[in-house]
Formats: sequence, structure tokens, C-alpha cells
Amino acid sequence: MLKIDINGQARALDIDDDTPVLWLVRDVLGLTGTKFGCGMGLCGACTVRVDGTAVRSCITPVSDVVGKRVTTIERLDRDRVGRALQRAWLDLEVVQCGYCQSGQLMQAAALLAGNPAPDDDAIDAAMSGNLCRCGTYPRIRAGIHAAAR
Ligand code: FES
Repeated sequence: MLKIDINGQARALDIDDDTPVLWLVRDVLGLTGTKFGCGMGLCGACTVRVDGTAVRSCITPVSDVVGKRVTTIERLDRDRVGRALQRAWLDLEVVQCGYCQSGQLMQAAALLAGNPAPDDDAIDAAMSGNLCRCGTYPRIRAGIHAAAR
């Protein structure tokens, strides 16, 4: 049994320890807000937070998160920063197709947790690995600035 805290709930999971965290949250726990994009750590669609750090869940085996806190998009609203991001995303209509946006939001939440007032360069550096085929990058940047206020 692997013991992992997922969204504030302690879980004891009977699962192969090389299972990607992405499939744990989506297929075992039904937390489908985390998306599969490339499966190779290249696009950011699968981003979750582990002890606050943004990680690519598609290339992170569950053995790497034993004893740690995994947070998915379903609990973005658990803190003030996450709620501010949600509000900004809605107010600024950041989303177009939406597929990448849970990963974008989790990456943005990790950024703001470490840097409460990032400038454009800091935002671009933190977010550059999260791809958006709709090209919502200017609105993502604006949303992060709005949430930081
Ligand atoms: Fe994980 Fe693309 S699906 S980085």
C-alpha cells in the first residue's frame, strides 16, 4: 500500500509504484480535471502540485509522491491564490477550448505561491512550458497579474 495525500485526503493505495500520477488521479480516483496531452512531460496539460511544486503528472511515478501532498485542479480553490486565479480566469475569459487550462492554472498557482507579484518576465519563464494551442498566452499573463493584485 502506498500512502499519499491527495487533495487533503490521506489515501492508502494498492497500485503499482511505477504508475504515473496522471493515471492515479484520473483513472483510479476519477479526478478527470487533470488532462493527458503529450504523455512525455512536454506540454504541461497534466500539471499537478506536489508539496506545492508544479510537476508533470504524466512522467511522475506514484512512488515519487509517497508521503507527499498532491493537489489537483479539483482543489485549486483550497487557498486564496487559487480562488483569485479562478476569479481572474472567469473575469478575463482566459479560456478558449480549455483543454490545457487546468495545467495552466496549477502552474500559475505554484508560481504565485513562490512569487506573489511576478513581472512579465517571471510569468513567461514560469509558464513557458505550458502549451496552449489556442494561443491564450496574453490572457493567461493578464490573469496571473489580476490574481496577484
Ligand atoms: Fe504531461 Fe504533456 S501530458 S506534459
